Amino acid sequence: MGVWLGGWDGQDRRTAHWLERINGCGMSNLIEPQVPGTRAGHAAGDNGSGEHGSGGHFTTHFDEASIDFSDAETQITERTRAELVSIAARYPQARSALLPMLHLVQSVEGRVTPAGIEVCAEILGISTADVSGVATFYTMYKRRPVGEYHVGVCTTALCAIMGGDQVFSRLQDHLGVGNDETTEDGLITLEHLECNAACDMAPVMMVNWEFFDNTTPDRAVEVVDQLRAGGEVTATRGARVCTWKEAERVLAGFPDGRADEGPTSAYESRLGLRIATENGWSAPPVPAKGPPDQDEQPANDVAEDAK
Ligand code: FES
Repeated sequence: MGVWLGGWDGQDRRTAHWLERINGCGMSNLIEPQVPGTRAGHAAGDNGSGEHGSGGHFTTHFDEASIDFSDAETQITERTRAELVSIAARYPQARSALLPMLHLVQSVEGRVTPAGIEVCAEILGISTADVSGVATFYTMYKRRPVGEYHVGVCTTALCAIMGGDQVFSRLQDHLGVGNDETTEDGLITLEHLECNAACDMAPVMMVNWEFFDNTTPDRAVEVVDQLRAGGEVTATRGARVCTWKEAERVLAGFPDGRADEGPTSAYESRLGLRIATENGWSAPPVPAKGPPDQDEQPANDVAEDAK
């Protein structure tokens, strides 16, 4: 698409993405701010025709800093590179491995770095613009270093009205940080999240992607204080909380052997099953599907014939 959407939250990005697809004519141009020297809707280095500037690097025209390609610092070693290659080898189409590869980059670098982008591009045989386009679209990939613990509070409608907004605002006051900012001790990064598909346990907080269900402002403060004090913290539905980098390594597909640690589902999520069991209810059998009927008409044709 060649449209830079960095600096928007996930919901806005998705909205603009679909507007772009629906209109096919740069609808997002109408809603993106312009600054001198850049064309609305296109990053510097992108001429809007799908071609990118020299080196294939984008720079954003939004306020939030893009990936700084002048930053050459990296912790990526030959071992990391070998692991990235091993992830790519898991997929019939190597480029399908990009998402877990970026998680591995984050597990080493603490964010997506220019070096990480370049090594992924080189291994997959795609451009750095392709990689950075993905890395800046999904909110789980970070351009700034994340603290030891990423604390996400769901503030989508259901969690918000069940207290998520209060949880988030209390944590902001308690930690002295804004959205997507890290405490001075480098331990906690606070971020508001979109729906975590755990609405039956609203409001939900996540620490390094482990669930803390039915959270209250007091409980949220207690959790971050325990983490900052170096205490062991266990999710309400999941394992002991590890560091953000360790969690990123698991997301890259390198299990830490703790997948079954702690409760893996909640009472609320199993309630329907319990009621069905108590009442002896079961799902109707699925009719066996035979070979396609030669005379079978598509539904539209049947409706047309019926007129
Ligand atoms: S709205 Fe928060 S988990 Fe769905």
